[in-house]
Amino acid sequence: MPHDPDPPPAKRFKPGSVLFRLDKNKPRMLLPTKGSATSPIDVQRKRLPIYQAKPQLLNQLRQHHSAILIGETGSGKTTQIPQYLYESGIGRQGVIAVTQPRRVAAVSLAARVAEEKRTPLGKLVGYTVRFEDVTSFETKLKFLTDGMLLREAIGDPLLLRYTVVVLDEAHERTVHTDVLFGVVKAAQHKRRELNKIPLKVIVMSATMDVDLFSEYFDKSPVLYLEGRQHPLQVYYTKQPQADYLQAALVSVFQIHQEAPPSHDILVFMTGQEEIESLARTCRDISKHLPDSCCLMVVVPLYASLPPAQQLRVFRPAPTGCRKVILSTNIAETSVTISGIKYVVDTGMVKAKRFSPDSGLEVLAVQRVSKAQAWQRAGRAGREDSGSCYRLYTEQEFNQLAPMTVPEIQRCNVAAVMLQLMALGIPDVMHFDFMSKPSPEAVRSAVEHLELLGAVEWKDGQVLLTALGKKMASLPLEPRYAKTILLSPNYSCADEILSIVSLLSVDAVLFNPPARREEVLAARKKFSSSEGDHITLLNIYRSFKKAGGSKEWCRENFVNSRNMGLVKEVQAQLRDICLKLNLKLESCGADTGNVRRCLAHGMFVNAAELQLDGSYLALHTHQPVAIHPSSVLFQAKPAYVIFNQLLHTSRCYMRDLCLVDADWLLDAAPDYFSRKLRPTKS
Ligand code: CDP
Ligand code: MG
Repeated sequence: MPHDPDPPPAKRFKPGSVLFRLDKNKPRMLLPTKGSATSPIDVQRKRLPIYQAKPQLLNQLRQHHSAILIGETGSGKTTQIPQYLYESGIGRQGVIAVTQPRRVAAVSLAARVAEEKRTPLGKLVGYTVRFEDVTSFETKLKFLTDGMLLREAIGDPLLLRYTVVVLDEAHERTVHTDVLFGVVKAAQHKRRELNKIPLKVIVMSATMDVDLFSEYFDKSPVLYLEGRQHPLQVYYTKQPQADYLQAALVSVFQIHQEAPPSHDILVFMTGQEEIESLARTCRDISKHLPDSCCLMVVVPLYASLPPAQQLRVFRPAPTGCRKVILSTNIAETSVTISGIKYVVDTGMVKAKRFSPDSGLEVLAVQRVSKAQAWQRAGRAGREDSGSCYRLYTEQEFNQLAPMTVPEIQRCNVAAVMLQLMALGIPDVMHFDFMSKPSPEAVRSAVEHLELLGAVEWKDGQVLLTALGKKMASLPLEPRYAKTILLSPNYSCADEILSIVSLLSVDAVLFNPPARREEVLAARKKFSSSEGDHITLLNIYRSFKKAGGSKEWCRENFVNSRNMGLVKEVQAQLRDICLKLNLKLESCGADTGNVRRCLAHGMFVNAAELQLDGSYLALHTHQPVAIHPSSVLFQAKPAYVIFNQLLHTSRCYMRDLCLVDADWLLDAAPDYFSRKLRPTKS
């Protein structure tokens, strides 16, 4: 085993340091319940809180076109409602769709329901997520992501295959959920008008602004499920914590040293990198604890983790061993993990933020809302009493926003506008959103699409161009779609498809900090002075040359599962391109073509080196910096395009590609004659 030269972090950890103060104001009581994961599945189904309410629920759901259903996470909404509907013959003429904001939830829920129905997945019960379809003509209960149902609506705006659409996890309010609300509502109305089979809409959540939803869905009734809620102790820190990661670490080990091994811990954090790094630290520390402490299994959970690994969180820890799950907000509601007795809430979340003035969307680590904090706390004490340790003071809690602002009001809505137009929505500028994006955001999105050539103005109306229509047929952000469509002009469609696929799947590379030197040495042979896109392409080409070998992946710190997914994504994109009659050539060693193509497709994300050595994003003249993970970090290229902005201590550009000013000028002459430094134009 490689020896870590650093002293184990355990030495820095002071056992017994008390961070918390008890919150006495929030007693939350509940009915005692029995529940055991080992009892037969039918017995488990009957023990769910929803089972008691089944007859009344079905009665209500039969009567109304739309309904809102509220019930604690774990009460059985998602797994039972579709089965109840199906078993009682509601919606039998068609398919019952259940939407999920997250892929992992759609997959794991479909698997669970298939198991409960004792049928193989893909028969009666199936799922469809981006780039994966496990359904057949027999499928009657179909779990799918919001994004997938939206894509289906492009070909079938009335959603005629479905008799019921269950919009689950509605409080999540991702862009897709919000657009879907409008699309489903419109389909429901239109079907009524045209005398087609009615569409029943059921909106479900554990927590949400019910008045807003009820009003929006034609004043539909709100059905409340009696939840099972065990006493929950909430603790706050005495002082604000400067370093929430350190505070999380201390809390985990404080609990670990005191609690019985069967009590699992769930820690809410913000993203993959910090989760993986804390996971490592926890594993290291736990190795150095006295024997009186039980063993610890640390399981990470985040959206970009390969599905099979995500499912590891559901596996119980071996007897005598504590499970510690380090998760993003994905574990707030989407997935129900049993055995959680302690929740540690950093109070932070990584989320999109968009400023229409600057036109830039950034990912930023920010405070959660009160609703989110309660939802997180509720993950403890689902099966028995539990505790939540908030790594912030009560005063900080009181200052949190009450509800999370829906994503549609804090992201770039260009993709949404494009999709709405492709759906044939007549007046996209005035689409019936439950919460409207600001007029500036809509204007900025339409401008963005106009720059990409996807839309044009005619008689005061925004219309989709032929290019825009093609762009909408690719399930990608508009700028990626445009780049793919341009690629045949540069004879590099093959490379661009690879690059876009690599960028669509997160985290194809492992970067364990403890093995930094080895990682750098392994990466060196792929590293390209042309930037991260070409470096990724080199890695992908070698991966394919090595026949996708796991051994090769391990040696090169490449995530072999995610690479497998890249191959699938690429195959699907390739199919769409073939349908669009695109010529799929490879440019071989001439990667200059690839960069030219990227410059043309992604010119809105260009940045320019300034005389003082800093960078400005050209679209907005906002100061930006090269992220340390980029192969261009030490270089000072005059012009780059970037994929993403990440806001931490400063605004970082991630995934950069070296480009020429001339290419940018060529791509959008009018735009850049205004943006580029005068000496260059
Ligand atoms: O939707 P809601 O949060 O109300 O509950 P659910 O997802 O229908 O889950 C009900 C119960 O089914 C959970 O408490 C778990 O015991 C079980 N379940 C499971 O074992 N595995 C899954 N993948 C999903 C649910
Ligand atoms: Mg659910």
